[in-house]
Amino acid sequence: MAGLRRMEYRGYDSAGIAIVAAGRLAVAKKAGKLANLEAELDDRHLPTSHQGIGHTRWATHGAPNDTNAHPHVSADGRVAVVHNGIIENYSQLRAELGEAGAEFMSETDTEVAAHLLARELAGNHDLLGAMRAVVGRLQGAFTLVAVDAEATDQVVAARRNSPLVVGVGDGENFVASDVLAFIEHTREVVELGQDQVVRISPSEITVVGFDGQPAEVQRYQVDWDTSAAEKGGFDWFMRKEIFEQPKAVADTLLGRYNDHGELVLDEMRGISQEDLRRVNKIVIVACGSAYYAGMVAKYAIEHWTRVPCEVEVASEFRYRDPIVDPQTLCVTISQSGETADTLMAIRHARIQGAKVIAICNTNGATIPRESDAVIYTHAGPEIGVASTKGFLTQLAACYLLGLYLAQVRGMKYSDEIRLITTELAGTPELIQRMLDDADRVYQLAHELADQNDFIFLGRHVGFPVALEGALKLKEIAYQHAEGFAAGELKHGPIAIIEPGMPVFVIVPPAGRDQLRDKVISNIQEVRARGARTIVLAEEGDAQVASYADELIWLPHVSTLLQPLLSSVPLQLFACELATVLGHDVDQPRNLAKSVTVE
Ligand code: AGP
Repeated sequence: MAGLRRMEYRGYDSAGIAIVAAGRLAVAKKAGKLANLEAELDDRHLPTSHQGIGHTRWATHGAPNDTNAHPHVSADGRVAVVHNGIIENYSQLRAELGEAGAEFMSETDTEVAAHLLARELAGNHDLLGAMRAVVGRLQGAFTLVAVDAEATDQVVAARRNSPLVVGVGDGENFVASDVLAFIEHTREVVELGQDQVVRISPSEITVVGFDGQPAEVQRYQVDWDTSAAEKGGFDWFMRKEIFEQPKAVADTLLGRYNDHGELVLDEMRGISQEDLRRVNKIVIVACGSAYYAGMVAKYAIEHWTRVPCEVEVASEFRYRDPIVDPQTLCVTISQSGETADTLMAIRHARIQGAKVIAICNTNGATIPRESDAVIYTHAGPEIGVASTKGFLTQLAACYLLGLYLAQVRGMKYSDEIRLITTELAGTPELIQRMLDDADRVYQLAHELADQNDFIFLGRHVGFPVALEGALKLKEIAYQHAEGFAAGELKHGPIAIIEPGMPVFVIVPPAGRDQLRDKVISNIQEVRARGARTIVLAEEGDAQVASYADELIWLPHVSTLLQPLLSSVPLQLFACELATVLGHDVDQPRNLAKSVTVE
Protein backbone atom coordinates (compact mmCIF):
# COMPACT_ATOMS: atom_id res chain seq x y z
CA MET A 1 0.00 0.00 0.00
CA ALA A 2 2.88 2.38 0.70
CA GLY A 3 4.18 1.62 -2.78
CA LEU A 4 0.78 2.38 -4.30
CA ARG A 5 0.62 5.62 -2.34
CA ARG A 6 3.89 6.73 -3.91
CA MET A 7 2.58 5.84 -7.35
CA GLU A 8 -0.80 7.49 -6.92
CA TYR A 9 0.30 10.67 -8.80
CA ARG A 10 0.47 8.50 -11.94
CA GLY A 11 -3.23 7.85 -11.84
CA TYR A 12 -5.94 7.87 -9.28
CA ASP A 13 -9.10 6.65 -11.00
CA SER A 14 -9.08 3.46 -8.92
CA ALA A 15 -6.73 1.19 -6.96
CA GLY A 16 -6.58 -2.47 -6.04
CA ILE A 17 -4.47 -5.32 -4.72
CA ALA A 18 -4.44 -9.11 -5.00
CA ILE A 19 -2.47 -11.25 -2.56
CA VAL A 20 -1.82 -15.01 -2.40
CA ALA A 21 -2.39 -16.65 0.99
CA ALA A 22 -2.89 -20.35 1.76
CA GLY A 23 -3.21 -21.19 -1.93
CA ARG A 24 -5.97 -18.68 -2.56
CA LEU A 25 -6.29 -15.19 -4.00
CA ALA A 26 -7.60 -12.36 -1.86
CA VAL A 27 -8.57 -9.29 -3.91
CA ALA A 28 -9.67 -5.79 -2.94
CA LYS A 29 -10.24 -2.97 -5.42
CA LYS A 30 -12.11 0.35 -5.31
CA ALA A 31 -12.82 3.24 -7.63
CA GLY A 32 -11.45 6.62 -6.71
CA LYS A 33 -8.44 7.54 -4.66
CA LEU A 34 -6.26 5.09 -2.77
CA ALA A 35 -7.97 6.16 0.46
CA ASN A 36 -11.09 4.31 -0.70
CA LEU A 37 -9.09 1.07 -0.99
CA GLU A 38 -7.48 1.67 2.38
CA ALA A 39 -10.94 2.05 3.93
CA GLU A 40 -12.05 -1.19 2.26
CA LEU A 41 -9.00 -2.99 3.68
CA ASP A 42 -9.71 -1.62 7.13
CA ASP A 43 -13.11 -3.26 6.93
CA ARG A 44 -12.05 -6.54 5.33
CA HIS A 45 -8.76 -7.51 7.06
CA LEU A 46 -7.25 -9.61 4.25
CA PRO A 47 -4.91 -12.44 5.36
CA THR A 48 -1.25 -11.49 5.64
CA SER A 49 1.06 -12.41 2.77
CA HIS A 50 4.40 -11.44 1.25
CA GLN A 51 3.25 -12.26 -2.29
CA GLY A 52 0.96 -9.84 -4.05
CA ILE A 53 0.35 -7.26 -6.75
CA GLY A 54 -1.21 -3.81 -6.73
CA HIS A 55 -2.31 -1.11 -9.16
CA THR A 56 -3.34 2.54 -9.31
CA ARG A 57 -5.30 3.21 -12.48
CA TRP A 58 -5.31 6.00 -15.07
CA ALA A 59 -8.29 4.75 -17.04
CA THR A 60 -7.91 4.20 -20.76
CA HIS A 61 -10.59 1.62 -21.65
CA GLY A 62 -13.66 1.50 -19.39
CA ALA A 63 -14.95 4.06 -16.91
CA PRO A 64 -13.22 4.45 -13.53
CA ASN A 65 -15.38 2.14 -11.33
CA ASP A 66 -14.91 -0.82 -8.99
CA THR A 67 -15.48 -3.42 -11.71
CA ASN A 68 -12.98 -1.89 -14.12
CA ALA A 69 -10.40 -1.40 -11.36
CA HIS A 70 -7.36 -3.67 -11.50
CA PRO A 71 -6.42 -6.42 -10.56
CA HIS A 72 -8.51 -8.47 -12.94
CA VAL A 73 -9.10 -12.09 -11.94
CA SER A 74 -9.70 -15.17 -14.11
CA ALA A 75 -13.10 -16.83 -13.85
CA ASP A 76 -11.60 -19.78 -11.94
CA GLY A 77 -10.21 -17.36 -9.35
CA ARG A 78 -6.69 -18.66 -9.89
CA VAL A 79 -4.93 -15.75 -11.63
CA ALA A 80 -4.86 -12.04 -10.90
CA VAL A 81 -3.24 -9.52 -13.25
CA VAL A 82 -2.60 -5.78 -13.37
CA HIS A 83 -1.71 -3.87 -16.53
CA ASN A 84 -0.21 -0.55 -17.62
CA GLY A 85 -0.65 0.32 -21.29
CA ILE A 86 -3.10 -0.53 -24.10
CA ILE A 87 -3.81 -4.01 -25.50
CA GLU A 88 -4.55 -2.95 -29.04
CA ASN A 89 -6.14 -6.21 -30.20
CA TYR A 90 -8.27 -6.76 -27.11
CA SER A 91 -11.55 -6.68 -29.02
CA GLN A 92 -10.57 -9.65 -31.19
CA LEU A 93 -9.24 -11.55 -28.16
CA ARG A 94 -12.38 -10.77 -26.19
CA ALA A 95 -14.51 -12.17 -29.01
CA GLU A 96 -12.36 -15.31 -29.27
CA LEU A 97 -12.52 -15.91 -25.52
CA GLY A 98 -16.24 -15.17 -25.44
CA GLU A 99 -16.87 -17.78 -28.13
CA ALA A 100 -14.96 -20.24 -25.93
CA GLY A 101 -17.32 -19.46 -23.08
CA ALA A 102 -15.39 -16.84 -21.12
CA GLU A 103 -17.59 -14.38 -19.27
CA PHE A 104 -16.25 -10.86 -18.87
CA MET A 105 -16.89 -8.78 -15.80
CA SER A 106 -15.36 -5.49 -16.95
CA GLU A 107 -15.10 -3.14 -19.97
CA THR A 108 -11.32 -3.16 -19.81
CA ASP A 109 -8.78 -4.40 -22.31
CA THR A 110 -6.79 -5.89 -19.39
CA GLU A 111 -9.28 -8.59 -18.47
CA VAL A 112 -8.45 -10.57 -21.61
CA ALA A 113 -4.99 -11.16 -20.12
CA ALA A 114 -6.48 -12.75 -16.98
CA HIS A 115 -8.56 -15.16 -19.04
CA LEU A 116 -5.69 -16.01 -21.38
CA LEU A 117 -3.31 -16.67 -18.47
CA ALA A 118 -5.83 -18.98 -16.80
CA ARG A 119 -6.31 -20.88 -20.07
CA GLU A 120 -2.53 -21.35 -20.43
CA LEU A 121 -2.14 -22.43 -16.79
CA ALA A 122 -4.90 -24.98 -17.21
CA GLY A 123 -2.71 -26.37 -19.99
CA ASN A 124 0.01 -27.18 -17.42
CA HIS A 125 2.20 -24.17 -18.09
CA ASP A 126 3.88 -22.59 -15.12
CA LEU A 127 3.13 -18.90 -14.66
CA LEU A 128 6.25 -17.74 -16.51
CA GLY A 129 5.52 -20.07 -19.41
CA ALA A 130 1.88 -18.97 -19.39
CA MET A 131 2.93 -15.31 -19.46
CA ARG A 132 5.22 -15.92 -22.41
CA ALA A 133 2.44 -17.66 -24.29
CA VAL A 134 -0.01 -14.83 -23.55
CA VAL A 135 2.23 -11.89 -24.48
CA GLY A 136 2.85 -13.62 -27.78
CA ARG A 137 -0.85 -13.00 -28.56
CA LEU A 138 -0.99 -9.36 -27.50
CA GLN A 139 -0.44 -6.27 -29.65
CA GLY A 140 0.09 -2.75 -28.36
CA ALA A 141 1.82 -1.36 -25.27
CA PHE A 142 1.70 -3.27 -22.03
CA THR A 143 3.34 -4.06 -18.74
CA LEU A 144 1.57 -7.02 -17.13
CA VAL A 145 2.15 -8.32 -13.59
CA ALA A 146 0.44 -11.51 -12.42
CA VAL A 147 0.18 -13.97 -9.55
CA ASP A 148 -1.09 -17.56 -9.58
CA ALA A 149 -2.83 -18.75 -6.40
CA GLU A 150 -1.23 -22.17 -6.94
CA ALA A 151 2.31 -20.82 -7.37
CA THR A 152 3.42 -19.62 -3.98
CA ASP A 153 6.25 -17.14 -3.57
CA GLN A 154 6.47 -15.88 -7.11
CA VAL A 155 5.29 -12.93 -9.16
CA VAL A 156 5.68 -12.82 -12.94
CA ALA A 157 5.76 -9.71 -15.12
CA ALA A 158 6.24 -8.87 -18.79
CA ARG A 159 6.91 -5.62 -20.63
CA ARG A 160 6.45 -4.22 -24.12
CA ASN A 161 6.55 -0.44 -24.71
CA SER A 162 5.62 0.31 -21.08
CA PRO A 163 8.10 0.65 -18.21
CA LEU A 164 9.00 -2.20 -15.79
CA VAL A 165 11.78 -2.25 -13.22
CA VAL A 166 12.83 -4.91 -10.70
CA GLY A 167 13.85 -3.97 -7.15
CA VAL A 168 16.52 -6.31 -5.78
CA GLY A 169 15.96 -6.65 -2.04
CA ASP A 170 17.49 -8.72 0.77
CA GLY A 171 15.38 -11.86 0.90
CA GLU A 172 12.67 -10.07 -1.07
CA ASN A 173 12.25 -8.75 -4.60
CA PHE A 174 9.90 -6.30 -6.27
CA VAL A 175 8.60 -5.38 -9.73
CA ALA A 176 7.01 -2.02 -10.56
CA SER A 177 6.40 0.56 -13.27
CA ASP A 178 8.57 2.98 -11.37
CA VAL A 179 11.32 2.65 -8.78
CA LEU A 180 9.23 4.86 -6.58
CA ALA A 181 7.09 1.89 -5.55
CA PHE A 182 9.91 0.12 -3.69
CA ILE A 183 12.59 2.76 -3.22
CA GLU A 184 12.22 2.65 0.56
CA HIS A 185 13.08 -1.06 0.52
CA THR A 186 15.91 -1.14 -2.00
CA ARG A 187 17.83 1.08 -4.39
CA GLU A 188 19.35 -1.80 -6.30
CA VAL A 189 17.44 -2.06 -9.55
CA VAL A 190 17.29 -4.18 -12.68
CA GLU A 191 15.79 -2.40 -15.68
CA LEU A 192 13.98 -4.82 -17.97
CA GLY A 193 14.34 -4.46 -21.72
CA GLN A 194 11.70 -4.60 -24.43
CA ASP A 195 9.84 -7.91 -24.81
CA GLN A 196 11.18 -9.49 -21.63
CA VAL A 197 9.49 -11.56 -18.94
CA VAL A 198 10.68 -11.69 -15.32
CA ARG A 199 9.86 -14.08 -12.51
CA ILE A 200 10.74 -13.00 -9.00
CA SER A 201 10.77 -15.06 -5.81
CA PRO A 202 12.16 -13.93 -2.44
CA SER A 203 15.59 -15.23 -3.45
CA GLU A 204 15.66 -15.33 -7.25
CA ILE A 205 15.18 -13.11 -10.28
CA THR A 206 14.80 -14.90 -13.62
CA VAL A 207 14.66 -12.84 -16.83
CA VAL A 208 13.93 -14.31 -20.26
CA GLY A 209 12.91 -12.89 -23.62
CA PHE A 210 9.44 -13.46 -24.99
CA ASP A 211 11.21 -16.24 -26.94
CA GLY A 212 12.21 -17.94 -23.70
CA GLN A 213 15.94 -17.32 -24.12
CA PRO A 214 17.71 -16.21 -20.92
CA ALA A 215 18.34 -12.45 -20.96
CA GLU A 216 21.38 -10.64 -19.62
CA VAL A 217 20.31 -7.73 -17.46
CA GLN A 218 22.27 -4.96 -15.75
CA ARG A 219 21.86 -3.99 -12.14
CA TYR A 220 22.30 -0.37 -11.08
CA GLN A 221 21.89 1.75 -8.00
CA VAL A 222 19.20 4.43 -7.90
CA ASP A 223 20.51 7.61 -6.33
CA TRP A 224 17.22 9.53 -6.43
CA ASP A 225 15.36 10.59 -3.35
CA THR A 226 11.66 9.77 -3.34
CA SER A 227 10.67 13.25 -4.50
CA ALA A 228 13.02 13.03 -7.52
CA ALA A 229 11.87 9.47 -8.17
CA GLU A 230 8.28 10.68 -8.60
CA LYS A 231 9.62 12.81 -11.44
CA GLY A 232 11.64 9.95 -12.86
CA GLY A 233 14.84 11.75 -12.04
CA PHE A 234 13.74 15.00 -13.75
CA ASP A 235 13.70 18.28 -11.82
CA TRP A 236 10.12 19.07 -12.82
CA PHE A 237 7.05 17.06 -13.81
CA MET A 238 6.80 19.42 -16.79
CA ARG A 239 10.25 18.45 -18.05
CA LYS A 240 9.47 14.78 -17.49
CA GLU A 241 6.22 15.18 -19.40
CA ILE A 242 8.00 16.97 -22.28
CA PHE A 243 10.26 13.93 -22.56
CA GLU A 244 7.29 11.55 -22.34
CA GLN A 245 5.80 13.04 -25.52
CA PRO A 246 7.09 10.45 -28.02
CA LYS A 247 5.38 7.69 -26.03
CA ALA A 248 2.29 9.78 -25.30
CA VAL A 249 1.77 10.54 -29.00
CA ALA A 250 2.50 6.92 -29.96
CA ASP A 251 -0.02 5.67 -27.39
CA THR A 252 -2.64 8.13 -28.63
CA LEU A 253 -2.21 6.89 -32.20
CA LEU A 254 -2.22 3.23 -31.15
CA GLY A 255 -5.09 0.90 -31.94
CA ARG A 256 -6.99 3.19 -34.28
CA TYR A 257 -7.61 0.65 -37.05
CA ASN A 258 -10.08 -2.17 -37.54
CA ASP A 259 -9.41 -5.40 -39.44
CA HIS A 260 -10.36 -3.69 -42.70
CA GLY A 261 -7.70 -1.03 -42.29
CA GLU A 262 -10.27 1.64 -41.58
CA LEU A 263 -9.77 4.33 -38.96
CA VAL A 264 -11.86 3.67 -35.86
CA LEU A 265 -12.11 6.10 -32.95
CA ASP A 266 -12.67 5.38 -29.25
CA GLU A 267 -16.32 5.89 -28.54
CA MET A 268 -18.05 7.40 -31.55
CA ARG A 269 -21.18 5.38 -30.87
CA GLY A 270 -23.16 8.48 -29.85
CA ILE A 271 -22.73 9.94 -33.32
CA SER A 272 -23.64 7.87 -36.37
CA GLN A 273 -21.70 8.06 -39.58
CA GLU A 274 -24.93 9.38 -41.12
CA ASP A 275 -24.90 12.21 -38.56
CA LEU A 276 -21.33 13.02 -39.56
CA ARG A 277 -22.21 13.04 -43.24
CA ARG A 278 -25.02 15.54 -42.58
CA VAL A 279 -22.69 17.99 -40.81
CA ASN A 280 -22.22 21.25 -42.74
CA LYS A 281 -20.15 23.16 -40.19
CA ILE A 282 -17.69 22.31 -37.44
CA VAL A 283 -17.11 24.48 -34.39
CA ILE A 284 -14.13 23.77 -32.13
CA VAL A 285 -14.36 25.19 -28.62
CA ALA A 286 -11.55 25.09 -26.05
CA CYS A 287 -9.33 27.20 -23.80
CA GLY A 288 -5.64 28.04 -23.61
CA SER A 289 -3.31 25.49 -25.16
CA ALA A 290 -6.28 23.33 -26.08
CA TYR A 291 -7.64 26.29 -28.08
CA TYR A 292 -4.33 26.54 -29.94
CA ALA A 293 -4.54 22.82 -30.68
CA GLY A 294 -7.99 23.56 -32.10
CA MET A 295 -6.50 26.25 -34.34
CA VAL A 296 -4.09 23.69 -35.79
CA ALA A 297 -6.98 21.26 -36.18
CA LYS A 298 -8.89 23.81 -38.27
CA TYR A 299 -6.21 23.82 -40.98
CA ALA A 300 -6.09 20.02 -41.10
CA ILE A 301 -9.84 19.40 -40.91
CA GLU A 302 -10.72 21.96 -43.58
CA HIS A 303 -7.95 20.71 -45.87
CA TRP A 304 -8.98 17.07 -45.56
CA THR A 305 -12.79 17.34 -45.33
CA ARG A 306 -13.63 20.71 -47.01
CA VAL A 307 -16.14 21.32 -44.19
CA PRO A 308 -16.04 24.90 -42.83
CA CYS A 309 -14.41 24.82 -39.40
CA GLU A 310 -14.54 27.63 -36.83
CA VAL A 311 -12.38 27.71 -33.71
CA GLU A 312 -13.74 29.56 -30.68
CA VAL A 313 -12.43 30.50 -27.26
CA ALA A 314 -14.88 28.60 -25.08
CA SER A 315 -15.44 31.54 -22.70
CA GLU A 316 -16.58 33.71 -25.63
CA PHE A 317 -18.58 31.13 -27.53
CA ARG A 318 -21.93 31.06 -25.81
CA TYR A 319 -22.09 34.82 -25.23
CA ARG A 320 -21.91 35.75 -28.90
CA ASP A 321 -25.20 34.10 -29.81
CA PRO A 322 -23.44 31.62 -32.10
CA ILE A 323 -25.13 30.08 -35.13
CA VAL A 324 -25.43 26.43 -34.16
CA ASP A 325 -27.97 23.86 -35.34
CA PRO A 326 -28.33 20.05 -35.70
CA GLN A 327 -26.02 20.18 -38.74
CA THR A 328 -23.25 21.70 -36.66
CA LEU A 329 -20.63 19.39 -35.18
CA CYS A 330 -19.13 20.79 -32.00
CA VAL A 331 -15.62 19.50 -31.17
CA THR A 332 -14.34 20.25 -27.69
CA ILE A 333 -10.73 19.80 -26.63
CA SER A 334 -9.82 19.51 -22.96
CA GLN A 335 -6.95 17.71 -21.20
CA SER A 336 -8.68 17.70 -17.82
CA GLY A 337 -12.21 17.35 -19.12
CA GLU A 338 -13.31 19.65 -16.29
CA THR A 339 -12.69 23.19 -17.63
CA ALA A 340 -15.81 25.15 -16.74
CA ASP A 341 -15.68 27.53 -19.73
CA THR A 342 -15.47 24.59 -22.09
CA LEU A 343 -18.16 22.61 -20.29
CA MET A 344 -20.60 25.53 -20.43
CA ALA A 345 -19.84 26.01 -24.12
CA ILE A 346 -20.70 22.45 -25.08
CA ARG A 347 -23.85 22.51 -22.97
CA HIS A 348 -24.90 25.56 -24.99
CA ALA A 349 -24.04 23.84 -28.27
CA ARG A 350 -26.07 20.77 -27.32
CA ILE A 351 -29.09 22.86 -26.40
CA GLN A 352 -28.88 24.30 -29.93
CA GLY A 353 -29.01 20.75 -31.30
CA ALA A 354 -25.36 20.19 -32.18
CA LYS A 355 -23.66 16.84 -31.69
CA VAL A 356 -20.53 17.08 -29.55
CA ILE A 357 -17.25 15.15 -29.84
CA ALA A 358 -14.82 15.53 -26.92
CA ILE A 359 -11.07 15.15 -27.25
CA CYS A 360 -9.96 14.47 -23.69
CA ASN A 361 -7.11 12.97 -21.66
CA THR A 362 -9.13 12.04 -18.60
CA ASN A 363 -11.34 8.99 -18.84
CA GLY A 364 -14.80 9.54 -17.43
CA ALA A 365 -14.36 13.29 -16.84
CA THR A 366 -17.39 15.60 -16.96
CA ILE A 367 -16.86 16.92 -20.50
CA PRO A 368 -16.63 13.49 -22.19
CA ARG A 369 -19.56 12.32 -20.07
CA GLU A 370 -21.64 15.21 -21.39
CA SER A 371 -20.55 14.69 -25.00
CA ASP A 372 -22.04 12.40 -27.64
CA ALA A 373 -18.67 10.85 -28.49
CA VAL A 374 -15.10 10.96 -27.29
CA ILE A 375 -11.58 10.52 -28.57
CA TYR A 376 -9.32 9.85 -25.62
CA THR A 377 -5.72 10.94 -25.77
CA HIS A 378 -3.43 8.52 -23.95
CA ALA A 379 -0.89 10.91 -22.50
CA GLY A 380 -1.20 9.54 -18.97
CA PRO A 381 -1.61 11.97 -16.07
CA GLU A 382 -0.24 15.44 -16.80
CA ILE A 383 0.90 16.83 -13.44
CA GLY A 384 2.67 20.02 -14.56
CA VAL A 385 0.23 22.93 -14.82
CA ALA A 386 1.69 23.93 -18.18
CA SER A 387 0.31 21.59 -20.80
CA THR A 388 2.92 19.80 -22.93
CA LYS A 389 2.16 16.13 -23.64
CA GLY A 390 -1.48 17.05 -23.18
CA PHE A 391 -1.16 19.58 -26.01
CA LEU A 392 0.82 17.35 -28.36
CA THR A 393 -1.58 14.42 -27.91
CA GLN A 394 -4.49 16.80 -28.54
CA LEU A 395 -2.87 17.58 -31.89
CA ALA A 396 -2.54 13.88 -32.63
CA ALA A 397 -6.19 13.27 -31.75
CA CYS A 398 -7.29 16.25 -33.89
CA TYR A 399 -5.45 14.83 -36.89
CA LEU A 400 -7.15 11.47 -36.32
CA LEU A 401 -10.53 13.18 -36.14
CA GLY A 402 -9.91 15.10 -39.35
CA LEU A 403 -8.92 11.92 -41.17
CA TYR A 404 -11.87 10.02 -39.70
CA LEU A 405 -14.30 12.69 -40.92
CA ALA A 406 -12.66 12.61 -44.37
CA GLN A 407 -13.04 8.82 -44.38
CA VAL A 408 -16.70 8.88 -43.31
CA ARG A 409 -17.60 11.64 -45.74
CA GLY A 410 -15.76 10.00 -48.61
CA MET A 411 -13.40 12.93 -49.06
CA LYS A 412 -10.31 10.72 -49.00
CA TYR A 413 -9.62 7.19 -50.16
CA SER A 414 -8.33 4.76 -47.55
CA ASP A 415 -4.91 4.67 -49.19
CA GLU A 416 -4.65 8.46 -48.99
CA ILE A 417 -5.60 8.30 -45.30
CA ARG A 418 -3.14 5.48 -44.74
CA LEU A 419 -0.35 7.61 -46.23
CA ILE A 420 -1.02 10.41 -43.75
CA THR A 421 -1.49 8.11 -40.74
CA THR A 422 1.73 6.33 -41.65
CA GLU A 423 3.55 9.67 -41.56
CA LEU A 424 1.75 10.42 -38.27
CA ALA A 425 2.91 7.11 -36.84
CA GLY A 426 6.47 8.17 -37.59
CA THR A 427 6.26 11.44 -35.66
CA PRO A 428 7.10 10.04 -32.18
CA GLU A 429 10.58 9.24 -33.48
CA LEU A 430 10.91 12.76 -34.91
CA ILE A 431 9.72 14.26 -31.62
CA GLN A 432 12.43 12.21 -29.92
CA ARG A 433 15.00 13.81 -32.25
CA MET A 434 13.82 17.24 -31.10
CA LEU A 435 14.33 16.12 -27.50
CA ASP A 436 17.80 14.81 -28.30
CA ASP A 437 18.70 18.41 -29.22
CA ALA A 438 17.43 19.82 -25.92
CA ASP A 439 20.83 21.03 -24.70
CA ARG A 440 21.09 23.58 -27.50
CA VAL A 441 17.71 24.99 -26.55
CA TYR A 442 18.68 25.06 -22.88
CA GLN A 443 21.83 26.99 -23.74
CA LEU A 444 19.70 29.54 -25.59
CA ALA A 445 17.48 29.92 -22.53
CA HIS A 446 20.53 30.72 -20.42
CA GLU A 447 21.74 33.26 -22.99
CA LEU A 448 18.33 34.99 -23.12
CA ALA A 449 17.62 34.86 -19.39
CA ASP A 450 18.10 38.64 -19.16
CA GLN A 451 15.42 39.38 -21.78
CA ASN A 452 11.93 40.48 -20.78
CA ASP A 453 10.10 40.61 -24.11
CA PHE A 454 9.79 37.73 -26.54
CA ILE A 455 8.03 37.60 -29.93
CA PHE A 456 6.87 34.44 -31.67
CA LEU A 457 5.96 34.45 -35.36
CA GLY A 458 4.39 31.81 -37.56
CA ARG A 459 2.09 31.39 -40.55
CA HIS A 460 -0.53 28.73 -41.28
CA VAL A 461 -0.22 26.02 -38.59
CA GLY A 462 2.89 27.85 -37.39
CA PHE A 463 0.70 30.69 -36.12
CA PRO A 464 -1.02 28.64 -33.35
CA VAL A 465 2.40 27.23 -32.45
CA ALA A 466 3.67 30.81 -32.07
CA LEU A 467 0.74 31.53 -29.75
CA GLU A 468 1.43 28.36 -27.74
CA GLY A 469 5.14 29.20 -27.46
CA ALA A 470 4.26 32.64 -26.11
CA LEU A 471 1.75 31.18 -23.66
CA LYS A 472 4.33 28.76 -22.24
CA LEU A 473 6.70 31.65 -21.55
CA LYS A 474 3.97 33.73 -19.92
CA GLU A 475 2.63 31.00 -17.69
CA ILE A 476 5.86 29.56 -16.27
CA ALA A 477 8.61 32.16 -16.86
CA TYR A 478 6.26 35.11 -16.20
CA GLN A 479 7.84 36.92 -19.16
CA HIS A 480 5.99 39.19 -21.59
CA ALA A 481 5.64 37.18 -24.77
CA GLU A 482 3.40 37.58 -27.79
CA GLY A 483 2.62 35.37 -30.73
CA PHE A 484 1.64 36.87 -34.08
CA ALA A 485 0.63 35.70 -37.50
CA ALA A 486 3.89 36.60 -39.25
CA GLY A 487 2.03 38.44 -42.01
CA GLU A 488 0.43 40.72 -39.43
CA LEU A 489 3.72 42.16 -38.20
CA LYS A 490 3.88 44.93 -40.79
CA HIS A 491 0.34 46.03 -39.81
CA GLY A 492 1.56 47.48 -36.50
CA PRO A 493 3.38 45.08 -34.17
CA ILE A 494 6.70 45.53 -35.96
CA ALA A 495 6.92 48.91 -34.23
CA ILE A 496 7.77 47.18 -30.95
CA ILE A 497 10.87 45.47 -32.31
CA GLU A 498 13.95 46.66 -30.45
CA PRO A 499 17.59 45.80 -31.18
CA GLY A 500 18.44 42.48 -29.58
CA MET A 501 14.81 41.52 -28.97
CA PRO A 502 14.43 37.73 -29.27
CA VAL A 503 12.05 36.82 -32.10
CA PHE A 504 11.24 33.13 -32.62
CA VAL A 505 10.13 32.32 -36.14
CA ILE A 506 8.60 29.02 -37.21
CA VAL A 507 9.36 28.42 -40.86
CA PRO A 508 7.17 25.90 -42.73
CA PRO A 509 8.75 23.23 -44.91
CA ALA A 510 9.43 24.24 -48.52
CA GLY A 511 6.35 23.42 -50.57
CA ARG A 512 4.36 24.43 -53.61
CA ASP A 513 2.97 27.62 -52.10
CA GLN A 514 4.79 30.83 -51.20
CA LEU A 515 4.25 30.25 -47.48
CA ARG A 516 7.90 29.64 -46.62
CA ASP A 517 9.19 32.51 -48.75
CA LYS A 518 6.79 34.93 -47.08
CA VAL A 519 8.02 33.86 -43.63
CA ILE A 520 11.61 34.37 -44.75
CA SER A 521 10.66 37.92 -45.73
CA ASN A 522 9.28 38.43 -42.24
CA ILE A 523 12.55 37.25 -40.74
CA GLN A 524 14.39 39.82 -42.85
CA GLU A 525 11.95 42.54 -41.76
CA VAL A 526 12.59 41.99 -38.04
CA ARG A 527 16.28 41.40 -38.54
CA ALA A 528 16.56 44.73 -40.33
CA ARG A 529 15.31 46.30 -37.10
CA GLY A 530 17.88 44.59 -34.92
CA ALA A 531 15.88 41.62 -33.66
CA ARG A 532 17.75 38.49 -32.55
CA THR A 533 16.12 35.84 -34.74
CA ILE A 534 15.73 32.31 -33.42
CA VAL A 535 14.56 30.37 -36.44
CA LEU A 536 12.90 26.96 -36.38
CA ALA A 537 13.29 25.55 -39.89
CA GLU A 538 13.46 22.28 -41.71
CA GLU A 539 16.83 20.53 -41.64
CA GLY A 540 18.95 21.52 -44.62
CA ASP A 541 17.07 24.71 -45.42
CA ALA A 542 20.30 26.57 -46.13
CA GLN A 543 18.58 29.72 -47.40
CA VAL A 544 17.02 30.35 -43.99
CA ALA A 545 20.31 29.86 -42.19
CA SER A 546 21.71 33.14 -43.51
CA TYR A 547 18.94 35.14 -41.77
CA ALA A 548 19.02 33.32 -38.44
CA ASP A 549 21.02 34.32 -35.41
CA GLU A 550 20.07 30.96 -33.89
CA LEU A 551 18.85 27.91 -35.77
CA ILE A 552 16.73 25.05 -34.43
CA TRP A 553 16.44 22.36 -37.06
CA LEU A 554 13.20 20.46 -37.56
CA PRO A 555 13.15 17.02 -39.22
CA HIS A 556 11.16 16.93 -42.44
CA VAL A 557 7.43 16.38 -42.01
CA SER A 558 4.36 17.58 -43.92
CA THR A 559 3.36 21.17 -43.19
CA LEU A 560 0.13 20.20 -41.39
CA LEU A 561 1.98 17.86 -39.01
CA GLN A 562 4.87 20.22 -38.28
CA PRO A 563 3.33 21.54 -34.99
CA LEU A 564 4.07 18.14 -33.44
CA LEU A 565 7.76 19.00 -33.86
CA SER A 566 8.00 22.81 -33.72
CA SER A 567 6.15 22.99 -30.37
CA VAL A 568 8.81 20.91 -28.60
CA PRO A 569 11.76 23.34 -28.57
CA LEU A 570 9.41 26.11 -27.43
CA GLN A 571 8.31 23.94 -24.49
CA LEU A 572 11.93 23.15 -23.63
CA PHE A 573 12.89 26.82 -23.88
CA ALA A 574 10.12 27.96 -21.54
CA CYS A 575 10.83 25.17 -19.04
CA GLU A 576 14.56 25.97 -18.92
CA LEU A 577 14.09 29.74 -18.78
CA ALA A 578 11.63 29.40 -15.88
CA THR A 579 14.12 27.12 -14.12
CA VAL A 580 16.96 29.61 -14.64
CA LEU A 581 14.73 32.37 -13.28
CA GLY A 582 14.07 30.27 -10.18
CA HIS A 583 10.32 29.80 -10.65
CA ASP A 584 8.21 26.80 -9.59
CA VAL A 585 7.77 25.32 -13.06
CA ASP A 586 5.16 22.73 -12.03
CA GLN A 587 2.98 25.06 -9.97
CA PRO A 588 3.38 28.55 -11.44
CA ARG A 589 1.86 31.48 -9.59
CA ASN A 590 -1.83 32.37 -10.07
CA LEU A 591 -2.56 29.19 -12.07
CA ALA A 592 -4.27 25.83 -11.52
CA LYS A 593 -4.10 22.64 -13.52
CA SER A 594 -7.78 22.57 -14.20
CA VAL A 595 -9.79 25.80 -14.24
CA THR A 596 -13.14 24.61 -12.94
CA VAL A 597 -14.54 28.11 -12.51
CA GLU A 598 -15.80 30.40 -15.28
C1 AGP B 1 -1.78 25.42 -20.88
O1 AGP B 1 -0.40 25.21 -20.59
C2 AGP B 1 -2.56 25.78 -19.63
N1 AGP B 1 -2.39 24.80 -18.63
C3 AGP B 1 -4.01 26.11 -19.96
O2 AGP B 1 -4.03 27.06 -21.02
C4 AGP B 1 -4.88 24.91 -20.38
O3 AGP B 1 -4.50 24.48 -21.67
C5 AGP B 1 -6.34 25.38 -20.43
O4 AGP B 1 -6.70 25.81 -19.12
C6 AGP B 1 -7.31 24.28 -20.88
O5 AGP B 1 -7.26 23.22 -19.97
P1 AGP B 1 -7.97 21.83 -20.40
O6 AGP B 1 -7.24 21.33 -21.62
O7 AGP B 1 -7.81 20.92 -19.21
O8 AGP B 1 -9.40 22.14 -20.71
